[in-house]
Amino acid sequence: MGTSEAVTVRAPAKVNLELRVGGPRPDGYHELATVFHAVSLTDDVTATPADAITVTVEGVHADRVPLDGTNLAVRAARLLAERSGIDDGVALHIRKGIPVAGGMAGGSADAAAALVACDALWHTGLSREELRVLAAELGSDVPFALLGGTAIGTGRGEQLTPALARGDYTWVVGLSDRGLSTPAVYAEIDRLRAGRVLPEPRVSERLMQALRSGDPTALGASLANDLQPAACSLLPDLLRSLAVGQEYGALGGVVSGSGPTVAFLVKDTEQSLDVAVALTASGVCSDVRRVHGPVPGARIVEHGPGR
Ligand code: C5P
Repeated sequence: MGTSEAVTVRAPAKVNLELRVGGPRPDGYHELATVFHAVSLTDDVTATPADAITVTVEGVHADRVPLDGTNLAVRAARLLAERSGIDDGVALHIRKGIPVAGGMAGGSADAAAALVACDALWHTGLSREELRVLAAELGSDVPFALLGGTAIGTGRGEQLTPALARGDYTWVVGLSDRGLSTPAVYAEIDRLRAGRVLPEPRVSERLMQALRSGDPTALGASLANDLQPAACSLLPDLLRSLAVGQEYGALGGVVSGSGPTVAFLVKDTEQSLDVAVALTASGVCSDVRRVHGPVPGARIVEHGPGR
């Protein structure tokens, strides 16, 4: 390719500070009210001109990421090409920093990054709102990976309102090698709640107040996830890791999204080390990372000649 342009876009993982799940909808999705929070685990997607739309992946468990037309980044590039009447191809290269199949929306981050990268590469010039509409077609979590920060999600998670949030928060995330399938976790919550009348999902005023005041102790006490009992029912080890975090003084702990990642909010760097060491020693997590949030959504980090 020689002097061809290449665009690299970085997109963040998310944790759900609160996830409230309503009953199943006729379209198979569940009505949600959630608070997304972007954290400093990121994937980089580099887009280089090519004849066809292809993808390569590097990083931990890269072999678990599909390389065919089901890859969310490939689907994002195809969708953008189709809607903008573009005939060009693109070679996408993903550097994974976000755990694969961890409930942290890594695939969604790749899709958001691919949209932004191809928009720049192909000079399609879509507005952020036009990109958001395409993102929502690709998956419930993709619009948030574009937006980043801290935001309230409604509908199936794709309708976003930025949250009034103050402060920078320190997190420890405990990963598990044992993947949990998102549809299976939603099916399990339906099973566990069968026959119950469910209220309309809403995020709590307590959590929004904690975010407005930037109070980590209040935020830690407000973390909540309706999917947690379902994820723990399918993967009881999650209960052990939640207990370890609590024992070592985390301000709060919650299964992120449909799991199996567990996110612990901690006071400071020192406590993040204590909790990280305890989780590692407990043997219930395959990997433990210390991160912070909020961080920005998908953005160009490099725009220059291709390699
Ligand atoms: O939108 P996305 O492809 O990320 O969703 C994956 C699966 O998660 C859906 O097929 C559905 O089973 C479940 N889901 C749901 N309700 C939501 C979001 C996801 O039931 N609001």
